[in-house]
Amino acid sequence: MFQQLDYSGEKTKDYELLIKQLDALSTGESNQTALLANASSLLNQFLDEVNWVGFYLTENEELVLGPFQGLPACIRIPFGKGVCGTAVSKNKTQRIADVHQFPGHIACDGASKSEIVIPISRNKEIIGVLDIDSPIYDRFDAIDQDNLEKFVAQLEKHL
Ligand code: SME
Repeated sequence: MFQQLDYSGEKTKDYELLIKQLDALSTGESNQTALLANASSLLNQFLDEVNWVGFYLTENEELVLGPFQGLPACIRIPFGKGVCGTAVSKNKTQRIADVHQFPGHIACDGASKSEIVIPISRNKEIIGVLDIDSPIYDRFDAIDQDNLEKFVAQLEKHL
């Protein structure tokens, strides 16, 4: 049974707890859909001021919508397009303070104002991205980026 932990309010410490929770929830399971569904749920209950948390998975030079929490979203994003496709083509986290300033941003939820997208790899090949949207500008700082990259690194061990 999933237990909500007592977070301290200290950001880095709380992210450490979250990553341990992810590990505990994922250990012994290999079904990718199940692992990503739980990971999106964990992040959605942990992060405040977010309106979309989920995954896109690579398929034939495109990203295809995977498990997520939030409003229905666009299903296919070509590599190199939008924030998600750019994260794949550059193989680099995209931390965008104002999505309206990002050329080619794809607006799935009109409420989104800032966004972070982190590539996910298996055997050095990108298999998808973690995408998180926020309804406030500049929601994600360098500490969020560092810890969300650690979250993805932990998730990669189970995929
Ligand atoms: N904004 C993303 C599209 C996905 S939605 O945010 C869920 C992008 O520009 O790639």
